[in-house]
Amino acid sequence: MAKLLLSLTFLISLFGLNHSATFTLTNQCTYPVWAGLLSGAGTPPLPTTGFPLQPSQSNSVAVPAGWSGRTWGRTQCTTDPTGKFSCLTGDCGSGTVECNGGGAAPPATLAEFTLNGANGLDFYDVSLVDGYNLPMMVVPQVGAGAGGGGGCNVTGCFVDLNLECPAALRLTAAGGDESSAAVACRSACEAFGDPRFCCSGAYATPQSCGPTSYSEYFKKACPTAYSYAYDDGTSTFTCSSADYVITFCPTPANSRKTTGASQSEANSGAISLAKAFSISSLMAAAFILEPAWRL
Ligand SMILES: *[C@@H]1O[C@H](CO)[C@@H](O)[C@H](O)[C@H]1NC(C)=O
Repeated sequence: MAKLLLSLTFLISLFGLNHSATFTLTNQCTYPVWAGLLSGAGTPPLPTTGFPLQPSQSNSVAVPAGWSGRTWGRTQCTTDPTGKFSCLTGDCGSGTVECNGGGAAPPATLAEFTLNGANGLDFYDVSLVDGYNLPMMVVPQVGAGAGGGGGCNVTGCFVDLNLECPAALRLTAAGGDESSAAVACRSACEAFGDPRFCCSGAYATPQSCGPTSYSEYFKKACPTAYSYAYDDGTSTFTCSSADYVITFCPTPANSRKTTGASQSEANSGAISLAKAFSISSLMAAAFILEPAWRL
C-alpha cells in the first residue's frame, strides 16, 4: 500500500498535477522590511525562513507543492551589541534574520497559504486576526493556458491602518505615549483578551462569534482581509497552478487597479503592457536599423 501511494505521488508529480509555486516578495515600503516565513506542521520546509528587503527590492522563494504556512513583514529591526537581532513589529523570536520555525509576534499582517489543497486548489488569505503592522497584498500570477480553478482574486490590505488605529489598539514604540505614531494596530482579542473578540470559550463557533465594532474597523478599511476568526465568507480565496506576488506597501494606484477590477481587466493590463513592450522594442529596432539603412 505504501509503495502504491509512493508511486502514485511520483506519477502525480511527474505529470505536473502538483504544481510547485514561486512566491515573489516585494518591498514597496519607503523603509526596509524583513520578510518572515513559517511552514505549517508537517509540510515541506522552505529554503529560507527570513530575509531583509530594502525599499523596491524583491526576492523569489521556491515553494514546494503541498506547502502550507504564512509569511509576514517585520519592521524596525536592529541587531544589538551582543549580535541579537530583533524587530519592533512581527518579531519571530529567533534572535536572527532567519526565523527558524518562529512565528510572528502579534500584531502582524499575515498572508496565509495552503497550496494544492481540496480539489488541487491553492487557498490563500490576508489576515488581520492577529492585528496589523503594515499594508500587504497577495496577487496570484496565472500563466497562459494554466489555471482554470478558483477566482484567483487579489487580496490584502493596502491601507495604512496605523494612521487611524483606535487609541485602545495602538502599539507605539517603547517610551511612546498616546500621541505617538502607532507602529502597529492590535486586534481587539490581543488588546482586551475578551473571548467575544477572540472567538474562544463560549464564543468558539461561527454561530456564536460575529463581527464587533473593532473587527469592523479592520473590515471597512480592508474588505478582502480576515478581520476576525470566522470571517471566512469574504476573506478566503482560491487559485490553481499559480505563482504569488506578495507585496509590502503596495501603492494605492496599483491596488485600485487590481482590487475592484475583474481578472480579465487585470489580464488586459498585462496584455497592454506586453503590447507596449513589443511596440517599444520595434521602435528600438527601427532606431537601430535606420542609420544602417541610410549608409
Ligand atoms: C473575485 O473578484 C470578482 C471580480 O471583482 C468578484 O465578482 C468575486 O466576487 C470575487 N470573488 C470572491 C471569492 O470574493
